[in-house]
Amino acid sequence: MRLIIAITGASGAVYGQRLLEKLREKNVETHLIISKAAEKVIKHELEMTKEDIEKLADHSYDVDDWNSPSVSGSFKTDGMIIIPCSMKTLAGIACGYSDNLVLRAADVTLKEKRLLILVPRETPLNVVHLRNMLALAEQGVAIIPAMPAYYHKPKDIDGVVDFVVGRVLDLLDLEHTLYKRWREA
Ligand SMILES: Cc1cc2nc3c(=O)[nH]c(=O)nc-3n(C[C@H](O)[C@H](O)[C@H](O)COP(=O)(O)O)c2cc1C
Repeated sequence: MRLIIAITGASGAVYGQRLLEKLREKNVETHLIISKAAEKVIKHELEMTKEDIEKLADHSYDVDDWNSPSVSGSFKTDGMIIIPCSMKTLAGIACGYSDNLVLRAADVTLKEKRLLILVPRETPLNVVHLRNMLALAEQGVAIIPAMPAYYHKPKDIDGVVDFVVGRVLDLLDLEHTLYKRWREA
C-alpha cells in the first residue's frame, strides 16, 4: 500500500505522528507533506522539528515542491490522508484552490477517484466549515473528525489519540489493536 500523508496546521500534530508510526509498522509506503503552519504546531505541541516527523516517513516533500510525484495523477497511490486537517486546507480542497502541494495532492486524489481521508480539527464549527465538509463528503471524501470516543475507557492521552488513529486505520482496512471495540472493552 502506498499513501500520501499530509500534516497541516490544525491542533493535534500528534495524530499525524502516531499514524506515521503505525503505518511504518504495517510496512505501508508513506509520502509525507508537512505544511508551513504545521511546522509551527509541531514545534509548539510536540516540541519536535519537521525533520523529526519526516524521519517517520519513507519519502517527504516540501509543501512548495512542484517537482514531487504527488503533483500528478500519473503517480499511482492508494489514497491520501490529511491528519490533522485545518479549516483552511479543507476550504482549499472544497474549492479546488491548489496553491500548495497538500492542496494539489488532495485535488489529484479526488480527480483520480482515490480514497481521501480528512481528519479535521476545529471547535466550534461555523457554517462555512460545515458547508465545506458537506461538499467534500458529497464527493466521497471520508471525514473522520478528531473527535475521540470514551467507551473504550482510555487510560491516558495516548489512548484518546489512538482511538482517532485507529478509526483511520479501520477505513484503510488495516488491522490494529489501538482501541478496544464496542463490547470488547
Ligand atoms: C498553535 C496553533 C493551533 C491551531 N489550531 C488550529 C485548529 O485546530 N484548526 C484550524 O483549522 N486551524 C488552526 N490553526 C490555524 C492554522 O494553522 C492556519 O489557518 C493556517 O493557515 C493553516 O494552514 P495550512 O492548512 O496550510 O496548514 C492553528 C494555528 C496555530 C499556530
